[in-house]
Amino acid sequence: MTTTEKHSPTAAGSGASATESFRRASAEGGAAVDPQRVDAVVRAVLEGVHAAIRTHEVTYAEFQAAKKWLIEVGEGGEWPLFLDVFVEHVVEEVAAETQQGTKGSILGPYYLPGQRRLPSPATLPQRPDEGGTPLVFTGQVRDVDGNPVAGAELDIWQADEQGYYSGFAPDIPDGNLRGVVAADDTGRFEITTVRPAPYQIPTDGPTGALCAAAGWEPWRPAHLHLLVRAPGHRQITTQLYFQGGEWLDADIAGATKPELVLDPQPQADGRLRAEYDFVLEPVA
Ligand code: DHB
Ligand code: FE
Repeated sequence: MTTTEKHSPTAAGSGASATESFRRASAEGGAAVDPQRVDAVVRAVLEGVHAAIRTHEVTYAEFQAAKKWLIEVGEGGEWPLFLDVFVEHVVEEVAAETQQGTKGSILGPYYLPGQRRLPSPATLPQRPDEGGTPLVFTGQVRDVDGNPVAGAELDIWQADEQGYYSGFAPDIPDGNLRGVVAADDTGRFEITTVRPAPYQIPTDGPTGALCAAAGWEPWRPAHLHLLVRAPGHRQITTQLYFQGGEWLDADIAGATKPELVLDPQPQADGRLRAEYDFVLEPVA
């Protein structure tokens, strides 16, 4: 059987897994928020909604349709998907104002901690019949002064050749196309994987229904997700895209940046080779 014959994830399935993974990751978080911040920020959000209603003369029928949709997003567990596609990129933009070094991008809903640790050169765990063009991804982790960073780790995860993530789609083994790659003493790494496909927001749930209703294309360009970290340095959360890739200029999540585009070159052996160097800033 090839990977193309396997089942597609459903919005409800991906949503439930993303909700569970978010809850697990934030179980010990939940820092108290200053009431003045709650007042200021929630008030501003509500004022934005009120302004849209006035500007567009929203009707009762439209208000009820919106209420129905919001209930469905909650019931389908789709809040992590919706918020990471439509909101997170602005939170990242604000956070990035104080970040030097490699540009960041959104985390998204599909990160899973605790993956297999692999010394470089590494091959990401994959199925014997994994589809997609083999990709060798190499580079070096340096500090803002250009010095190699020892002890760097690249926590990497990606979709497969069909745009599906392990842990969030049926029939993909746990940990597939995920790993924590330890760079060498000079911060260099080499990771063999496959080129991912673009990601489509599941079309069978409320987020997909909204995209269809608004005439929005529900696609993200193909990407690799990375957390890059090293002792004494600020971790970066980022994504790398592919030069010339479909949806690169029309990412529904608004999370691409020109500095984050790989330019893979075909090799004589049929594999693609792409290089990218990461720059980490010291912890404040
Ligand atoms: C979503 C999915 C992704 O793969 C990603 O990188 C960002 C957002 C989402 O469906 O919310
Ligand atoms: Fe993604």
